[in-house]
Amino acid sequence: MKTAIISSSLNPESKSFIMCKAVEAELIKQGAEVIFVDARDYKLGPLFQTTPDNDKLAEKVKDADNFVFGMALYDYSVNDNLKIILDTCIDPKLDHALFGIICAAGGDKSYLSTMHLSQICMNEWRMMQLPRVIFGTGKDFDEKGINCENLKERVVKFADELYTLGSKLLK
Ligand SMILES: Cc1cc2nc3c(=O)[nH]c(=O)nc-3n(C[C@H](O)[C@H](O)[C@H](O)COP(=O)(O)O)c2cc1C
Repeated sequence: MKTAIISSSLNPESKSFIMCKAVEAELIKQGAEVIFVDARDYKLGPLFQTTPDNDKLAEKVKDADNFVFGMALYDYSVNDNLKIILDTCIDPKLDHALFGIICAAGGDKSYLSTMHLSQICMNEWRMMQLPRVIFGTGKDFDEKGINCENLKERVVKFADELYTLGSKLLK
């Protein structure tokens, strides 16, 4: 099973990136092949003003069986760079692929805002969402990384469920 993890935040201190890396480690333990994208390594342009990096990113993830999107919650919605990735780098043939969401936010009350990403993926590509979402806020992190046991448990469960369901969908 080939999983593309796309960490979309451009923040040098991104917390969603830390959670994406934790999920990557768990998925590799499970036996998945992971294609990891750190969007900070790309200079993407929006639709109609794309750069060669948009094509480079699209090419990197085009053969993935399923996806994990690392989202930074902006204005109760999807961060701008993730929207650019969705608009310009996701191949239409990914129709029906499984996807999971990892979201970092400033406050716990924003947790339902990940539904905007669900809507985009389900309406645009008929993708199927892993029901478990990983959601973390500032208090769940310290200088060493994730400091919250509950969040660590959710990372393990998320990876386990994504691997189990993703493998079944390949058959
Ligand atoms: C432009 C902007 C808008 C934001 N809007 C929200 C918001 O609506 N709700 C919220 O809980 N946090 C909000 N935040 C806080 C971010 O979600 C938080 O910093 C999170 O850690 C970002 O993810 P990252 O660390 O992976 O970049 C906002 C931050 C920025 C910069």
